[in-house]
Amino acid sequence: MANSPADSLIHREMSLTDLDQVLEIENRAYQFPWTRGIFMDCFRGRNVCRVACLNGQVVGHAVLTVAAGEANLLNICIQRDSQGYGLGRVFMHQLIEHVGKLGARTMFLEVRPSNKVAIALYLSLGFVQVGLRKDYYQGMHGREDAQVMALPCGGTYS
Ligand SMILES: CC(C)(COP(=O)(O)OP(=O)(O)OC[C@H]1O[C@@H](n2cnc3c(N)ncnc32)[C@H](O)[C@@H]1OP(=O)(O)O)[C@@H](O)C(=O)NCCC(=O)NCCS
Repeated sequence: MANSPADSLIHREMSLTDLDQVLEIENRAYQFPWTRGIFMDCFRGRNVCRVACLNGQVVGHAVLTVAAGEANLLNICIQRDSQGYGLGRVFMHQLIEHVGKLGARTMFLEVRPSNKVAIALYLSLGFVQVGLRKDYYQGMHGREDAQVMALPCGGTYS
């Protein structure tokens, strides 16, 4: 079977020198992107900041918290032109494994109900919806709810 680009994806810690590229990816991928200030706060805090790289180029990023056996995925993003080629799925697998090694037993995340691509990815990885936060996100027409989803880091819910 032919190799897919996703087979070559590696992830590593995000550094300050990645930030310009991360912001470029962020700004092109989201309607309401994180600002440089938010990423800087994540660096200063105890967040897990990772980038996904293909052939040495940053093509995606993720920010998580890990504490008390729980990981929270605060942001995951693949650059717009590279979406739909399996990179997000591989990156998610890598992140789940990474936070598992850091002691997380469960990964939580929030997602807009309108983000059908992300929800399809999370469901296919075994995430289940465990809650709903009303009016959580800024939206184009008022506020939008957040679906809260969770996955045991050691495997799927049965
Ligand atoms: C969500 C995101 C990280 C997924 O990464 P990706 O590389 O595009 O996704 P993949 O190619 O790995 O596809 C993974 C799954 O997503 C779903 N998916 C991908 N593209 C899709 C599309 N156009 N329509 C519907 N489902 C789609 C499918 O379930 C797919 O699995 P399959 O190919 O085995 O069917 C990426 O699209 C992204 O960065 N989006 C913008 C930022 C964002 O919304 N982040 C999530 C915030 S909660």
